[in-house]
Amino acid sequence: MASFDVHKIRKDFPALHQEINDRPLVYFDNAATTQKPRQVIDRITRYYEKENCNIHRGVHHLSQVATEAFENTRKHVQNFINASESREVIFTKGTTDSVNLVVYSWGEKYLEEGDEIIISALEHHSNLVPWQRLSKKKKAPLRIIPIDDNGELIFETFEKLLNEKTKILALTQTSNTLGSIIDAKKYIDKAHEYDAKVLIDGAQAIMHQQIDVQAMDCDFYCFSGHKMYAPMGVGILYGKEELLESMPPFESGGEMVDEVSFDGTTYNELPFKFEAGTPNVEAVLGLDTAIAYLEDIGIERLAAYEEELLEYATRKLKEIEDIRIIGNASRKTSLISFLIGDIHPYDAGTIIDKMGIAVRTGHHCAQPVLDFYRIPGTIRASMVFYNTFEEIDRLVEAIQQVKKMFG
Ligand code: ALA
Repeated sequence: MASFDVHKIRKDFPALHQEINDRPLVYFDNAATTQKPRQVIDRITRYYEKENCNIHRGVHHLSQVATEAFENTRKHVQNFINASESREVIFTKGTTDSVNLVVYSWGEKYLEEGDEIIISALEHHSNLVPWQRLSKKKKAPLRIIPIDDNGELIFETFEKLLNEKTKILALTQTSNTLGSIIDAKKYIDKAHEYDAKVLIDGAQAIMHQQIDVQAMDCDFYCFSGHKMYAPMGVGILYGKEELLESMPPFESGGEMVDEVSFDGTTYNELPFKFEAGTPNVEAVLGLDTAIAYLEDIGIERLAAYEEELLEYATRKLKEIEDIRIIGNASRKTSLISFLIGDIHPYDAGTIIDKMGIAVRTGHHCAQPVLDFYRIPGTIRASMVFYNTFEEIDRLVEAIQQVKKMFG
């Protein structure tokens, strides 16, 4: 892609320029976490050198500066996902925390015995286990949308699972294990026909495609900062205002309260009602810079380049004998899960690491997906816009080496 200067972009990411096992690092573990651009790292340093202070708690200069930067980030996130109000944007620790907030707040209040919850066979444990626990506690059956051999959800079965008892659909937008991209809007609209609420886990989608929560019409949307070039420890829960207003607080403590006495407590307004305690201010400010960085490149531009990476990697891997690609959905993010003959993914991953290439091996925190394919795990190469075609060639060489050693 002529207009996309990946080598210039790579200069922004210090961690990419190091040797691992005497080879230049190839970082293909982006679905686990992305590297951070210099701009984000500098933003955190600036905060600690010039602005460090607790927020919402002081009239002094530093507190006001930090509070303003923090609240500006909320508006930035609002614009980035096109929420209609900034108070619909709740800062959490990450996607897992966001899902748990909904499960424990909305779920505790609204779910009753006999109600039904629907999730899919593609879910990461973080959008599965909290619902499973809620299901057990409330005696509210958990229904699962199955997948086919390509790793696509079966919509017709979902339609059959829906009924007037369905209270919530919690669905990943993009599978972290297979890369399958879901047509979220189609599922949301269908679920709404039954008045069910819909939570979308956008952890693997937010960095690859433009998200518009109003157009999608989801009731909740969750994602993490660290998978989108921001620091760890910050995530977002978007929720429709009316719903969030009606939900009780999740965690209790400072900041989420209005008046406190030993006779009782009243709660703060949105979004603070859901933000107990001192937040991770530096991570939030880093998220602000990461979003600005993505906006500067343009999500559509980077997504087009990532699609080219996926096409090239898929073609190259298919040329190798004995490679089995797990997950062949018609719409996939830039991620390939694969196996090399009968070689255990951990053994392969160890050799690949020796060649300076970081891939993830194992079950990727989505064990039911692997159970479906009756395999213990996969090798997963997840690519983003700072990766190159040459790095894919290096992976191909490493796979050949694995075959030679175990062949
Ligand atoms: N959810 C992250 C992954 O898929 C950790 O690797």
